[in-house]
Amino acid sequence: MSDKATLEINGEKYEFPIKIGTENEVAIDIKSLRGSTNGVITIDPGYKNTGSCESAITFLDGEKGILRYRGYSIEELAEKADFLEVVYLLIFGELPTQDQLDKFESDIKERSMVDDDVKKILDAFPKSAHPMGVLSSLTSALTAFYPSSVDVNSEDDMYNAIVRILAKFPILVAWTMRKKHGLPLEYGDDNLGYVENVLKMMFKKPSSDYEQNPILVNALDKLLILHADHEQNCSTSTVRIAGSSHAGLFVSLASGISALWGPLHGGANQAVLEMLEAIKQDGGDTKKYMAKAKDKNDPFRLMGFGHRVYKNFDPRAKIIKKAADEVLNDLGVEDPILDIAKGLEKEALEDPYFVDRKLYPNVDFYSGIIYRAMGIPVEMFTVMFALGRLPGWIAQWREMRMRNEPIGRPRQLYIGATHRPFKSIEKR
Ligand code: CMC
Repeated sequence: MSDKATLEINGEKYEFPIKIGTENEVAIDIKSLRGSTNGVITIDPGYKNTGSCESAITFLDGEKGILRYRGYSIEELAEKADFLEVVYLLIFGELPTQDQLDKFESDIKERSMVDDDVKKILDAFPKSAHPMGVLSSLTSALTAFYPSSVDVNSEDDMYNAIVRILAKFPILVAWTMRKKHGLPLEYGDDNLGYVENVLKMMFKKPSSDYEQNPILVNALDKLLILHADHEQNCSTSTVRIAGSSHAGLFVSLASGISALWGPLHGGANQAVLEMLEAIKQDGGDTKKYMAKAKDKNDPFRLMGFGHRVYKNFDPRAKIIKKAADEVLNDLGVEDPILDIAKGLEKEALEDPYFVDRKLYPNVDFYSGIIYRAMGIPVEMFTVMFALGRLPGWIAQWREMRMRNEPIGRPRQLYIGATHRPFKSIEKR
């Protein structure tokens, strides 16, 4: 392949270098486009063809259904690693040795408390507040309690900020749920693993001990691994772009949480369950909802179907579908919602509308079903996604700062009014 791409504008030719990634992906480097062409820019709404950065964290091939963190396949990681190992891998680039992992875990545990005054902020939210809004606010508020800025050139400083947020975030996650349900706020237990601690902090009742269920621990561990990173998706790009102004780690993460909340992104897991419930309430007629999804005059979309980059299948969905079956079997759950989900899935996979547009079930189609079986309330589903995505956001923020990337500041093609004289109010 040539190492240059040529662009012709008004008979003038411009050359741009071609870059090849380690997985042979090809990119035209247009850094010099605007300068050399006297102001020409590219337009790419939704960034469907735009690489915003070079990254060594996650490789994704949507056509082949491949997802790898730092070179390791998601299938192998989900089967053989635990969440904390994956967190370390994503952020620091290599799987930890036992000593590294032990130190990492104990450094996190050492910081596993949140300033008690954070409870006052939480207290001010009405119970009706959506936990994603509360989580985003509390994550942002942490900046006020731990204000020292991170010196990104200091490995120690960077490490401390990272273990600090990894320690405190699960506490905020649990508190958002407990607040909504009127439960007293709990801290974790240093004798428990990261994921066990999350479950205990969420579910422990005031009057009894919390008994760990290994099936739930294993399912949540897997879910968190599957959600841990997904290269330059909407929330991750948000974290990178917020951090590119040198905004701190916590507030950059808070903006990622807000971006994740939307139903086209992380909010889809809640939307899937609400959709399935609505279909059930409406008599369970999946065909009616299939028709709505295909009707261009109807804004309804089949939630949990389709993906910006996966045009074959979502490899996470395959793993999670199996996990969902296992959890439901092990827990002996019989859920009519599941039958509706299976019916919809079957119909969509055979329907030319979905087949032609390469719309397959995505990770969120199944994750809500497991969360529901685990007893996690529906409004917490996206919060659980945020807990899983936290290491990916941190890894991407760290990479962006360590590569000293420039501030993210896209251009636009202006299509508004041209220059016109001001009209005084009586003449309007
Ligand atoms: N139901 C019905 N039609 C759909 C759906 C759907 N779920 N998704 C896409 N389409 C149609 C869309 O109408 C369009 O049709 P046409 O070509 O006739 O105009 C075509 O498929 C392409 O859709 P698009 O909106 O251009 O695709 P996109 O890449 O911009 O959007 C998506 C991707 C995930 C936002 C979209 O598929 C969607 O809205 N899905 C439902 C929400 C969802 O499940 N989101 C979770 C994504 S996975 C978790 C995560 O990583 O965030």
